Amino acid sequence: MNYLIAPSVLAADFANLQRDIEMVNSSEADWFHVDIMDGVFVPNISFGFPVVEAIRKHAKKPLDVHLMITDPDRYIEAFANAGASVITVHYEACVHLHRTIDAIKKLGCKAGVALNPHTPVSLLEDIVQDIDLALIMSVNPGFGGQKFIQQTYRKIRALRELSAGIHDDLMIEVDGGVNIDNAPLLLEAGANVLVAGNFVFSAQDPLSTVKQLKAIEPARKLI
Ligand code: DX5
Ligand code: ZN
Repeated sequence: MNYLIAPSVLAADFANLQRDIEMVNSSEADWFHVDIMDGVFVPNISFGFPVVEAIRKHAKKPLDVHLMITDPDRYIEAFANAGASVITVHYEACVHLHRTIDAIKKLGCKAGVALNPHTPVSLLEDIVQDIDLALIMSVNPGFGGQKFIQQTYRKIRALRELSAGIHDDLMIEVDGGVNIDNAPLLLEAGANVLVAGNFVFSAQDPLSTVKQLKAIEPARKLI
């Protein structure tokens, strides 16, 4: 089974950012997950363009930029220019989501839509064919290191069902509280991009933690 691991830079040591980026470069990880928080859409501020550009300078893998900001249309082009390969906006932050997705794709990036834990996947019914990726938040966005919300499995399954026959190669990304215990179940439910922040960067041996995450056999379906 093919799936991607995206370590979240939010959990890196910012005083040793280059070292941590090199760690991800030399690991089996696939993407850098880059969390942008504006202090309005979420109750936290992360970092902005100079840091994204600094990450890009050293990163040898695609930047998966997760915009937790209001009115993301204002900044999409700037993030594309800063080196994003994937740009994900929040469903809850977009009034004209179809237009926003179109703008992201026209900039040559893959387009994603993120759903907060309370937002049902059924709301993606009329956009699922137009997006490259759906990001299911498995914690309330704003902070790393939070507890995984169990309802996530059901949402992933429902989204796989909803997209079946319409967009079978939709990427389903899970973000928040992912670890080696829930990862097999997430893959089994139908996710194929796993974000991991603290589980990777706070590990004693981040390289072997990524290796572990890449070597998962998805859990067998419960009968
Ligand atoms: C939360 C962010 C996540 C976070 C994940 O708002 O979107 O990407 O960094 O961190 P962990 O894996 O520590 O929950
Ligand atoms: Zn994120």
